[in-house]
Amino acid sequence: MFRYLTAGESHGPGLTVIVEGIPAGVTLTEEYIAVQLGRRQRGYGRGGRMKIESDYAVLKGGVRLGETLGSPVAMWIENKDFANWTEAMSPAPPEGEIDRKENTRVVPGHADFPGALKYLAHDMRNVLERSSARETAARVAAGAVAMAFLDSFGIEIHSQVASIGTIDADVADDSDWAAIEESDVRTADPDTAQKFRDAIDEAKANRTTIGGVFQVVAIGVPVGLGSHIQWDRKLDGRIAQAMMSINAVKGVQLGRGFENTRRPGHDIQDIVVPDPDDLRRFSHTSNEAGGIEGGMSNGEPIVAYVAIKPIATMTRPLPSVDINTGEIIEAPYHRSDVCQVPPACVIGEAMMALVLAHAILEKFGGDHLREVQRNVAGYIESHQEFGTSI
Ligand SMILES: Cc1cc2nc3c(=O)[nH]c(=O)nc-3n(C[C@H](O)[C@H](O)[C@H](O)COP(=O)(O)O)c2cc1C
Repeated sequence: MFRYLTAGESHGPGLTVIVEGIPAGVTLTEEYIAVQLGRRQRGYGRGGRMKIESDYAVLKGGVRLGETLGSPVAMWIENKDFANWTEAMSPAPPEGEIDRKENTRVVPGHADFPGALKYLAHDMRNVLERSSARETAARVAAGAVAMAFLDSFGIEIHSQVASIGTIDADVADDSDWAAIEESDVRTADPDTAQKFRDAIDEAKANRTTIGGVFQVVAIGVPVGLGSHIQWDRKLDGRIAQAMMSINAVKGVQLGRGFENTRRPGHDIQDIVVPDPDDLRRFSHTSNEAGGIEGGMSNGEPIVAYVAIKPIATMTRPLPSVDINTGEIIEAPYHRSDVCQVPPACVIGEAMMALVLAHAILEKFGGDHLREVQRNVAGYIESHQEFGTSI
């Protein structure tokens, strides 16, 4: 069974990640994971913390001499900022009076309010430490393990910013990924990039924040991952849940989901056509569905669009309340990002990788990579026997 768990608080000693179910024989190094963690930390509009931290996941289990063993992959990402929080975030009971760095003022739009009530927390630090998007560093590390596995099947995952505020990029399913990788706002077109930066600067000058939409694309995914037969096996539903679980994400669409509600039915279906040289080899003339039909991958790129709201912490504070006294106060400001859309792309890639790795292992199984690869080859062979090729 493939699963993963993360643990750790934003200003605690660090983040722990366990990924279980990755087969033996997958090439995996700390350097490979570090590349993904570094990509999450870049981006125009990020706040101060990114300048003080450079994330690095130390492999603590499940990997020997550069290859996975089939046992759980355990990782540890140190929080460098913990040095400033050793007293307030210590797991040990306090000795005498300490500065608890208590937080009793609710930030609207955060986990503070429901979390304080649910967990009976007078000090909302007990909630916000875990609800912080710091946790997404752990997900990117887990996603890197999944990506290392997907690399063995030639599956590529990319992402780009589709919009920031009211500025739209010209987004395709086969964009110039190399140029996007070089961009601090993850868009290939330099003019759009400048408009994105200007919008972020304007939000900062107005002492507010700005959100947007990003696109995640998976290329080379075999036909038939997921299933139509039960709600929780549908691949589109699983991708949507994974993306929605990213902090501040408020909407997910597969393909051109929302936009296509405005178009007539005959315009938005993906027509299946045979290859003229091999009439039992098929493809689609378009990819409106985003690579998934009936909850199953259909061989086209899987394309998800993800809407991420503007961040709730602002230098111009919103009116709020003190959770203990009911006093009307101003929401607190802690060092914060102005725009998190570019780094969220990288988190979206990690979530896509985790869902696809799970779906591949579910369909093809195997304890060693070679066994999974043999099972994939067997699947392709059975299609050839049946008369279709994929
Ligand atoms: C990459 C990334 C960075 C974020 N940075 C911040 C931040 O600096 N300050 C902040 O208040 N919220 C930040 N957020 C958003 C909060 O984590 C999120 O809004 C909060 O946990 C409440 O969850 P919800 O918006 O999903 O309901 C960030 C989110 C992401 C994905």
